Amino acid sequence: MSASFDPSPASGNEEPRVSPAAPSPSSKDWAARAVQANAPMGPGRGMLPPGIVYERAFGSNVFDADGNRYVDLAAGFGAILLGHCHPELTACIADQASRLTQSLGEVFPSTEKIVLQEILAQKMGPGPHRVILGQSGADAVTAALKTAVLATGLPGVVAFSGAYHGLSYAPVALCGLRTSYKAPFANQLNSHIHHVPYPSNWEEGQESLSEVARLLAVGDVGAVVIEPILGRGGCVIPPDGFLSSLTELARKYRALSVFDEIWTGLGRCGSLLYSRAIGVIPDLICLGKGLGGGLPLSACIGHSQVMQAWQRDDEVVHTSTFAGTPLAAAAAIRLLQILERDAIIEQTLRRGELWMEALRKRLSPLTIVREIRGRGFMVAIDLGPKAGIAAEAANRLLGSGWITSTGGGQREVLILTPPLTISDHLLMCATNALHQSLSELSG
Ligand SMILES: Cc1ncc(COP(=O)(O)O)c(C=O)c1O
Repeated sequence: MSASFDPSPASGNEEPRVSPAAPSPSSKDWAARAVQANAPMGPGRGMLPPGIVYERAFGSNVFDADGNRYVDLAAGFGAILLGHCHPELTACIADQASRLTQSLGEVFPSTEKIVLQEILAQKMGPGPHRVILGQSGADAVTAALKTAVLATGLPGVVAFSGAYHGLSYAPVALCGLRTSYKAPFANQLNSHIHHVPYPSNWEEGQESLSEVARLLAVGDVGAVVIEPILGRGGCVIPPDGFLSSLTELARKYRALSVFDEIWTGLGRCGSLLYSRAIGVIPDLICLGKGLGGGLPLSACIGHSQVMQAWQRDDEVVHTSTFAGTPLAAAAAIRLLQILERDAIIEQTLRRGELWMEALRKRLSPLTIVREIRGRGFMVAIDLGPKAGIAAEAANRLLGSGWITSTGGGQREVLILTPPLTISDHLLMCATNALHQSLSELSG
């Protein structure tokens, strides 16, 4: 790895220091309280073993209640772009908190909300664009689905296998990742959803496009929704040309193409938008995760001709109390400034390539590793086919102080989404730690 990105340890890029072994005694106490306090999600427990409870975090480091120091290769499911508690974001949020934390939605918006909408609209390329802000990724996808219905009058949606667009009622219907997410609620969800296989190579791409064309030709589909790189589904990059053919097909049949860039967007995949990097212009783009600089914020952005569908003479038909709250909007404005000022997105593309090269060289020889793929700091180590194998790997890594997450339909993929500000030194240490843990698992 190059040594060009090595901030001092004081910037939150210190190696793990975990003693004696995770989880710490205090974390165990906290975990027991969590089990009592939280609704009992999952198979009979509130959190997955071995589990830690976060107490504070800075940069790429997370600390548990006993002061154990971890390195965060998950970054809040990809949402922490500039590292935890970035000093400039913290100062900005504190300043905003002392001036204005809440306005009155669409009725009397804040200056921060308007400025953020202007910046996002301007960053989307040839416009003009309009923006609907929300609090979660699921909000942004919901806004996109509503836009499509308003614009086309059609209830049908084409979505993809392995897709994850959030779990509130509109997007959960689109979920192609695990049936468990929607099975209990199926009777209350949109029944006009069609799933098409997410392609990973040219042949699969052609088959999926034929299937999409067949579905669109039926005439009830108003939206084609896709993650331009499959995120939780395992960091799958579709074949060249697939996304442009998909948007053309949607256009031909007057359905809106919706790119869910909630994970890929804002630099995580080494581009402001993956769609922009490959020269594709969808009708609607969803952003979320990192947008609020650690605060809940999301956006659905579209060309004003498409967004015109919201115009009505009678009533407002979409809003929410905290959408585009001044606190989150101020943080987002500062985050976007810092990303640009420090050329972080460009560096992420280059550093991601170097890291993936190092990972491939070191880990590919291990029998357990099926494939290493991704873009920027959205990296997957596919350990399939054994179901749950990535969870085993993540538990081992946690024991030595590395926080990772898992993906894929069977939790067979280890997902690495570190802060974009992680040092080269820590990436090298991460490669060593992964080698150690995956070698042990390889037997
Ligand atoms: C691509 C994508 N879309 C939407 C969502 C949902 O975002 P949220 O959890 O903020 O609702 C996620 C969350 O992981 C995601 O990865």
